[in-house]
Amino acid sequence: MTLIAFHDGDDNSSLDEWHNCALKIEKNMSFVSLTDKQAEKAEVALVWNPPIGRLAELKKLKLICSLGQGVDHLWKDISLPASIPIMRLIDPFMSHALSQWVIAVLFDFLRDGSFYRSKREKREFCKLSQRDTFGMDVAVYGVGAIGSVVANTLKNLEFRVTGWSQTQKPYLLFEQETGKSAFQKLIKSNLIHICLLPLTKSTKSLFTKDIFMQMPKGAYFINAGRGEQVDEMALLDAVRTGHLSGAALDVFCEEPLPKTHPFWDEKKISIWPHVAAQTNPETVIRQIIDSIQAVKLGRRPRNIVDPIRQY
Ligand code: GLV
Repeated sequence: MTLIAFHDGDDNSSLDEWHNCALKIEKNMSFVSLTDKQAEKAEVALVWNPPIGRLAELKKLKLICSLGQGVDHLWKDISLPASIPIMRLIDPFMSHALSQWVIAVLFDFLRDGSFYRSKREKREFCKLSQRDTFGMDVAVYGVGAIGSVVANTLKNLEFRVTGWSQTQKPYLLFEQETGKSAFQKLIKSNLIHICLLPLTKSTKSLFTKDIFMQMPKGAYFINAGRGEQVDEMALLDAVRTGHLSGAALDVFCEEPLPKTHPFWDEKKISIWPHVAAQTNPETVIRQIIDSIQAVKLGRRPRNIVDPIRQY
């Protein structure tokens, strides 16, 4: 029997759903809340935003699995046991969902959704001239499991896409750039900026006031990476002054976004409560069970994170 210590970051309301989903594939599994005393016997932790210090108390742990594609929530805990492998989820269904979200917010901007919604409220039947989007330059920052799907989807929609990441990936079919000077070049030359980067030491605070001011006037910023990659006040300022046309954000420095946050007052910033790609137990349980079995057999599990690179 494998005991799994579970924590979904909120109230553990999804524990039964995950347990039932796992039981369909593997009967020898039992789930317990991470904060329960019994969790100290667990060999596996399946967690999102676990309480600081708690994982270090689980002395029998053989595998930590993030309940999302990102693992940055784990690095906040400096007592995290360094010897335990950490796996992240890589799920084509989540990448697909995320690309749908990007397309939804991008076209809502390009086709003036907020203008027409405001006119509808006043029963005004009037139009803006249509933007020419054919071959429009789009920069996608981060072209891993998610970003590459988004970039491909946008390329198929006739955008001129350039992906930016740490290393060139020869198997990708869109333009790619790497390195600091290429980043600056993309910032200056693209109207649409889509951040899908993992949060690491090198991507923290990447989008500063200076970077927003270097974007062409009228640029649009989309973020489904992490809030901490962005200087939020600088973004707000760039939108308020009209330098940027607006932004669509699914991630924030503090989540839930506090009710007093000034983003709520800026109509040109579209706010989404971290829902661009939600983890689906049905589509990821198989890779989690495979990794648990691999660890038990002394093999390397799937999708293991490099603690130096932090993703
Ligand atoms: C969501 O942000 C995730 O990391 O899956």
